[in-house]
Amino acid sequence: MNSNENRDNPVSALKEVFADCFPIGAALSPPVLDSHDDLLPVHFNSLTCENHMKMRALQPAAGEFTFENADAVVEYARTHGMRVRGHTLLWHHETGAPGWVFNEPDGSRSAPEQVEDRLRTHIREVMNRYRGRVECWDVVNEAISDRDGADELLRDSPWRRALGDGYVERVFRMAHGADPHALLFYNEYGMTRPAKRERTLRLLRRLLEAGAPVHGAGIQGHFDLRVDVDEVRRAIEEFASLGLKVEITELDISLYNDNDESFTSPPPERLARQAGLYGKLFALFREYRQVITGITFWGVADDRTWLDNHPVRGRKNWPLLFDGDHRPKEALCSILDGAMDA
Ligand code: GLA
Repeated sequence: MNSNENRDNPVSALKEVFADCFPIGAALSPPVLDSHDDLLPVHFNSLTCENHMKMRALQPAAGEFTFENADAVVEYARTHGMRVRGHTLLWHHETGAPGWVFNEPDGSRSAPEQVEDRLRTHIREVMNRYRGRVECWDVVNEAISDRDGADELLRDSPWRRALGDGYVERVFRMAHGADPHALLFYNEYGMTRPAKRERTLRLLRRLLEAGAPVHGAGIQGHFDLRVDVDEVRRAIEEFASLGLKVEITELDISLYNDNDESFTSPPPERLARQAGLYGKLFALFREYRQVITGITFWGVADDRTWLDNHPVRGRKNWPLLFDGDHRPKEALCSILDGAMDA
């Protein structure tokens, strides 16, 4: 039985409705392959590991590669004819305790060449393993500084401290060398903020001018009810104007406006606003289907979302298209209705 067959109000399959536009993805961890098997093959045709392709998960200690969890996701995708987006080869978080990449066993800082060697080995091993099965990779995640007004392009991170300002370009070249067929993305949050977007565009422009193999820009898309859809449009347009493919890589819409709010059940008025926004966003994505190569939700249904613990630990949130019982929400209907009218 699938989710379309046991509902009073059957809904169309999201992936079918957007089949001529872009794949519809979900980020998940292996237990979700079972717990959400009612929804996944019906509505989604792209998968991302929520955490299990990060460095900490794939190589928790020097030379110790642990592929089982990521393999499970890739295998499920293969069985169901889904695409896989790799996330992520380099990030300043989740590199693996206790910092084996940056430090020697005695705690002293490793030499830059040593760090770069470890990174190259990591990228080569990971991309080799998933060659031909992972179509695109978020090569670098969140390298841009958050400090508006400061004359600073890259954030102060252990990678930058170890490898210097040229590291982003070198990482893309490493990734291209490891799998010349993979599509390589730069992924970033805060892309509706003009100042941060401008810095991101500056980085991408420099990379492209230097001939670096960058093929796409990922707009994460962790939004809330105040998201300005026109800013999302500008982000898509500006990245596309560089000749890049664009993906929305981590889409969800929080129901909270600030950290002091807390609801025990989702207020209907907020669900309605969320639905309206999802509808507008998907109308926009459809408009830009020539440049958008994927939309990925950061989760499948509201029973499991990282937002239950972020930014407030233990506060329930309802950011996705299916409710906690995997029933379609107004948000899904709004997207589908919009698509029918298009
Ligand atoms: C960022 C990262 C993701 C994930 C989310 C929160 O956006 O890119 O990998 O960790 O935060 O779950």
